[in-house]
Amino acid sequence: MLIKKPSDILPSEITSETNYLNRRQFIRAGAIAGGAAFAPGALGALVPDQRGAVLPDVGKSPLSTDEDLNSYEDITTYNNFYEFGTGKDDPYRNAQDFEPRPWTITVDGHAEKTGSFHFDDFIKPFDLEERIYRLRCVEAWSMVVPWVGISLAEVVKSLKPTSKAKYVAFETLHDPVRMPGQRRRVLDWPYREGLTIEEATNDLSILAVGIYGKVIPNQNGAPIRLVVPWKYGFKSIKSIVRISFTERRPRTSWNMSAPQEYGFYANVNPDVDHPRWSQANERRIGAGLFTPRQPTQMFNGYGEQVAHLYKGLDLRRNY
Ligand code: MTE
Repeated sequence: MLIKKPSDILPSEITSETNYLNRRQFIRAGAIAGGAAFAPGALGALVPDQRGAVLPDVGKSPLSTDEDLNSYEDITTYNNFYEFGTGKDDPYRNAQDFEPRPWTITVDGHAEKTGSFHFDDFIKPFDLEERIYRLRCVEAWSMVVPWVGISLAEVVKSLKPTSKAKYVAFETLHDPVRMPGQRRRVLDWPYREGLTIEEATNDLSILAVGIYGKVIPNQNGAPIRLVVPWKYGFKSIKSIVRISFTERRPRTSWNMSAPQEYGFYANVNPDVDHPRWSQANERRIGAGLFTPRQPTQMFNGYGEQVAHLYKGLDLRRNY
């Protein structure tokens, strides 16, 4: 990615600490008292708030790849999360003290169900699913990640977007006290991303809350991040606090920062090179030193599910 020169430290902000009641344990206790059965989906998604806790009731998905998985260590120590620094191991080192609870998600714009939701209430109606996806970064490296998440299509449907909603925009938390990388103006914070409503409601799009069956670590975007596997990794925005339904195409962070290098669609495309490097092949993280780079696949190999979304679009111009 393009790294801009660091500039002044932003004025600090003070965030108050509030005591947090673990509502889900409360609900679960109530459900037990009421004799509810614990079939998957009986309660919807239940995400414990302890780090690394095992996620209960996770279903499997036919949309998963059977390629070799990257190790938990690869996935959680080699990251891009500029809110915690621009080095690959900065997020792992600098995000350890980040507290992703309590967490509020605000929904606004052209939808019937808008407002602010506690994380637990937001995800509660949905089932947790494991989705093993390839992740292809625009920097030409890749991994295979066993995410656990909820279907974004289901989330969008439940929020009842109106006919004016053509796009879904996402924003990351903006809090330079808790996210020290935001004290440098490497990007115009908060990090922003967006999808067309058709992309957001494609079966492949998920909001991830876990990796390897456990609560998602901070450096990977706790407590909730987008995963759109046919697009370059920068579309998969982390630590989401706002979801907006818009009529016009939303502004997105890397496109704002370097429009000549990063487009809105950002579909993985081996035929369209980045202005500064080839996108024809990629380095699989964790592969041995002597393992050759592997060819990059159109739409990161997910063409069957998503190519129809771009029919008639010149993917060289709309990159
Ligand atoms: N989201 C936020 N908020 N900030 C970031 O810097 N980096 C993006 C994306 N989401 C980023 C982000 C990029 S460039 C990539 S490749 C993926 O996160 C990396 O996800 P991972 O660290 O879980 O592999």
